[in-house]
Amino acid sequence: KHHGGDGARGLRFAPVAPNTDDRVTVPEGYAQNLVISWGEPILRGAPDFDPERQSAKAQAGQFGYNNDFLSLLPLRGERCRQLLVANHEYTDEILMFRDYDDQRPTREQVEIAWAAHGLSVVVVEEEHRGGLRAVRRHQLNRRLTVTSEFRLSGPAAGSELVRTKADPHGTTVLGTLNNCSGGTTPWGTTLHGEENFNQYFANAEKVTDPDRAARLKRYGVVGGASERRWEEFDERFDLLKEPNEINRFGYVVELDPYDPGSTPRKRTALGRFKHEGAQPRLTRDGRPVVYLGDDEKFDYFYKFVSAKRMRHGGGRAAHAHNLTLLDEGTLYVAKLTGDSPAGSIDGSGKLPADGEFDGGGEWIPLATAGPEGAVSHVEGMSAEEVYVFTRFAADKAGATKMDRPEDIEPSPKTGKVYVALTNNTDRGKEGKAGPDEANPRNLNKHGQILELTEHRERPEATRFAWSLFLVAGDPEDPATYFAGFPKDRVSPISCPDNVAFDPHGNLWISTDGNALGTHDGLFGVATRGERRGELKQFLTMPKGAETCGPLVQDRHVLVSVQHPGEVDGATVDKPASQWPDGPGSYVRPSVVSVWRADGRGIGV
Ligand code: FEO
Ligand code: CA
Ligand code: CA
Ligand code: CA
Repeated sequence: KHHGGDGARGLRFAPVAPNTDDRVTVPEGYAQNLVISWGEPILRGAPDFDPERQSAKAQAGQFGYNNDFLSLLPLRGERCRQLLVANHEYTDEILMFRDYDDQRPTREQVEIAWAAHGLSVVVVEEEHRGGLRAVRRHQLNRRLTVTSEFRLSGPAAGSELVRTKADPHGTTVLGTLNNCSGGTTPWGTTLHGEENFNQYFANAEKVTDPDRAARLKRYGVVGGASERRWEEFDERFDLLKEPNEINRFGYVVELDPYDPGSTPRKRTALGRFKHEGAQPRLTRDGRPVVYLGDDEKFDYFYKFVSAKRMRHGGGRAAHAHNLTLLDEGTLYVAKLTGDSPAGSIDGSGKLPADGEFDGGGEWIPLATAGPEGAVSHVEGMSAEEVYVFTRFAADKAGATKMDRPEDIEPSPKTGKVYVALTNNTDRGKEGKAGPDEANPRNLNKHGQILELTEHRERPEATRFAWSLFLVAGDPEDPATYFAGFPKDRVSPISCPDNVAFDPHGNLWISTDGNALGTHDGLFGVATRGERRGELKQFLTMPKGAETCGPLVQDRHVLVSVQHPGEVDGATVDKPASQWPDGPGSYVRPSVVSVWRADGRGIGV
């Protein structure tokens, strides 16, 4: 039984019931609108969206596909306006193009996909009735795509491992790929994690050099032709023709969205893996610390501690200094130890004898980058190798194999850090790692959220304590846990993926791949007080969509509706979803804003 509008401050709304409706459902008393959708023109000269007459040139001036991470930044001097930055993780060609032939894509289709990837910067404005709408042709609006210039920065920049025929200095990369989650820095930039870059590179199976083959395999690069066959149109995507191009993807990208002429940087000091969240916080002496997830079954989570202090004040010199903060510092990986007696973690997910999945952990340093160069802390690997093949360094360091670490976010109120572990259906399978106290379920379909407390509450600490805050699933399933809150009073949740905090300090969780038979959604939960663990569903997604990029401000909730209609066998002519434009239209990934119809704050 739910409590209607009861709840912790910020979470006083009637929870939305799980469902399979092909729409975004929000709580009673809340309204929603589309902020921006795939194909909407944002740059001067870009045409209106016309899916039957697409072109690469048009797409390069329009909002990209499959929006994921979102950031909203203040815009001074412009009333009711903010700056929205969005990731465009990947393209669903079969839902973008009528009669798409995946064996024979046309050059135009490939170039449209290049232009539909990347990042968008677009000014948004609050409308009279409360929604947010994109402002077309604002001078800050910007698109970055697979053909835009990016600079490699930090300790691996210029290394032999990242030099190519087109870029013998190893510093300038065209494009960013598969930008998934990210973060917003306190110095006014945004961070964007390059996730599944492996899928864009062809012919790994023909690579004969054993070291190269092993590296490709560890990063999930397999097979012959790539899924989208880009290698047929640009040979840098062919591993036989350009062995190092792939080493230039898999980084955290830093963008200065206030400077439309700036070149975004790939921050190699934060390592190379399938990057997700990158949400910084500051140490007491002002150095940024960034938590980093690597979204793969049995992979690790990391943190970067900068050697440099952030400078405050809006001046140019301070800003230029702050744009170097992520190039020097130490990269660590997490190793966790459970505190329950041996044998009490049996893979069923039932609570151990001491009543909690918890324990201690250490941050193991992998490499340190400084003004005079970088030093490796891993035997047998150079610093450059640690930064470019970070997964191997973490393997050697004995890090803890987690259940798909995605987004990680420190609470701005308590300093505790929340790690979303989406699922791991291979845990405990033959030949795979078995359960441990932080990843306690075999064949884990529903995922969990880990709460981490840095030693003496110092972000730069090298030790921490942890416990599982939430073990997801149907509350009626005994192998679920909601921070000890009564389970007859919470919403079911499966596959926690992205996390965010509201201004009250509540944790908001979006899901990807709900394994309970209903659609993905967005949830809020208190992390403190009597209602700690009271999880409530705030919205649900259309068919086939993943919930991404949640942002919870005082009066608006923003979500990315990513890959609506992405269901096996669906095409433009046989759509699985008709969201958002209705029958006969193409499905369109979109950003949705939600607000309270009476104009008051969210959940108060
Ligand atoms: Fe792009 Fe890990 O989700
Ligand atoms: Ca324990
Ligand atoms: Ca995701
Ligand atoms: Ca987040």
